[in-house]
Amino acid sequence: MSEINIGLGNHDDKTRLEAKSNYVHFWEKQAKNLFWFSPWTNPLDWNPPFAKWFVGGTINASYNTLDIHQKNKSDKPAIFWEGENGESRILTYHDMWIQVQKFANVLKSLGVKKGDRVTIYLPMIPELPISMLACARIGAIHTVIFSGFSASSIKDRITDSKSKIVITADGGYRRGNIIYLKQVIDEAIVKLDFVQNVIVIERIKNKIKLSSKDLMWNDLMNNISNVCVAEKLDSSHPLYILYTSGTTGKPKGVLHGTGGYLTHLYSTFKWVFDIKDSDIFFCTADIGWVTGHSYIVYGPLLHGATQVMYEGSPDFPDISRIWNIIQKYKITLFYTTPTALRMFMKFGEKIPNSFDLSTLRLLGSVGEPINPEVWKWYFKTIGKEKCPIVDTWWQTETGGIMISALPGLETIPLKPGSGTLPIPGLDISVIDEYGKDVLPNTKGYLVIKNPWPGMLLTLWKDDEKYYEAYWSKYKNCYYAGDYALQDTDGYFWLLGRADDVLKVSGHRIGTAELESCLVSHTDVSESAVCGIPDEIKGEAIIAFVVLKQNVQKNNMTLQNELLLKIRNDIGAIATPAQIYFVSVLPKTRSGKIMRRLLKAIANKEIIGDTSTLENVDSISEIQSIFEQLQESIQKKSE
Ligand code: WT7
Repeated sequence: MSEINIGLGNHDDKTRLEAKSNYVHFWEKQAKNLFWFSPWTNPLDWNPPFAKWFVGGTINASYNTLDIHQKNKSDKPAIFWEGENGESRILTYHDMWIQVQKFANVLKSLGVKKGDRVTIYLPMIPELPISMLACARIGAIHTVIFSGFSASSIKDRITDSKSKIVITADGGYRRGNIIYLKQVIDEAIVKLDFVQNVIVIERIKNKIKLSSKDLMWNDLMNNISNVCVAEKLDSSHPLYILYTSGTTGKPKGVLHGTGGYLTHLYSTFKWVFDIKDSDIFFCTADIGWVTGHSYIVYGPLLHGATQVMYEGSPDFPDISRIWNIIQKYKITLFYTTPTALRMFMKFGEKIPNSFDLSTLRLLGSVGEPINPEVWKWYFKTIGKEKCPIVDTWWQTETGGIMISALPGLETIPLKPGSGTLPIPGLDISVIDEYGKDVLPNTKGYLVIKNPWPGMLLTLWKDDEKYYEAYWSKYKNCYYAGDYALQDTDGYFWLLGRADDVLKVSGHRIGTAELESCLVSHTDVSESAVCGIPDEIKGEAIIAFVVLKQNVQKNNMTLQNELLLKIRNDIGAIATPAQIYFVSVLPKTRSGKIMRRLLKAIANKEIIGDTSTLENVDSISEIQSIFEQLQESIQKKSE
């Protein structure tokens, strides 16, 4: 495991020791960097598995991201917005503050109260963070849904959160195409009487059908006061729900609070990205995912940073778009995903080399393990061997970065492919099946042993599932669902998911969700889904399907129907690369599908122990179907 030295190679032992000796006190000190209307009386109420940070303190996320900057930074650009079609907009901290207050008043005028939920289904336009911050200002809970999800997924989420307001746009641009978001919302809310209004932003200015529930953003914003005092909210007041896939058929509504979450983001944005007033930050994530919530909306704005928000696809109109943006806006800090990097790398270094990337001083990676070769390419070709790389491990549930190098705090040798060390104040370990710490260089499960400030409050309206999913495997210890190992220097190496969750282009997709979608097709009796390595996406989805008896359709027709069904029920991001029709699935005697075996077959690995298998013959059938299809795919591509 080779090392790369950037800087002096100093640990900040003082900070690390201080954090270790009393993590509650350590985080309390960090929380003082925020503006509190009233101080807390108890820094942490830990009633496992429920943590309340800074109890008694009152705070507001919108106040901390906007109001506090009005004195010194009101004219500083908060967002340089770059449209996919080349349009651009600049929003200063003052502009953001005014827009947010106006929209907060709009929400109030529609009867939105503290604790009410508001669903946001928008493309990457400034009105998205404005809507979120307006909710935060009045204590409404925002729930953003990624604009790639289908009507049926949205319906489930709106139903679960019981949102009375939905915010959307007439459409959005994606890779030069138009996506008709309003139509999707119309379909999603057909039977949802509790949705009182849909607020529509004009982005593409096409003709849309308006119903009695629909209101236009511009009309609402026209004659409304631009003063809205931020609510003084309890530190644990819910800021947002963000749905994410888990091991069950239904997405989980991860609920985040305010004071602890903001403390985590303030600290990590400073330590990980080493933010300075003059920096121009660019995170390529979509705000529909947690990376965008934490490191486009809340983290950078807490610091009064300037950032670029890009509306579209990284390869539109061509593969040089991102380098173009870096050159145009003189980006200094760049945060992206291994999937994007693998795609850029495929097109060679000539393209990035033809742009001026010399303003870059720090590079980040997030969402999935980064292959060492890709890490080295990023370091050399993009960073010109002068930018440290922060490989940041975290999750929707953790709220903020948990493991990463910290150029804003210390300079330690980097190792391509390792996230390095945990953030000070966090107690992260790798343990075995029985809960014992494993030896160095031994693969085990990643767990978090102390509560941390960005930690989820619970799952929306489901404390039991919250306990079950994260706290039941080990006592009083958060189970992350990832494999990891620690090397002899204590560096963490993340080794992928340990549960039935896939990571496709860095996005989480639960195999159970896909399977329940497939079996809801009238011709399907059973299905099992697993992942296979993919050169660009990291992982690709494949599905094994058993049909009901006497199904007459041919496999091609069925395959198309099933792919369409997944697109309609979940969204295009969940589309399998291949569907295999088999007559039986490998099962244990107790009837559990052995996905491990399917995965081994699909990955051409050794099958291993099959002694618990009820139907050993299934293996050879699946193997031969798999190989036949592989051959025919290969022939087609030749
Ligand atoms: C899962 C969480 C982190 C925000 C975006 C994704 C994987 C995340 C890394 C990394 C290796 C990583 C893990 C984790 N993951 N970052 N730097 N190295 N794996 O959030 O959708 O909640 O997914 O992403 O498997 O559990 P998410």
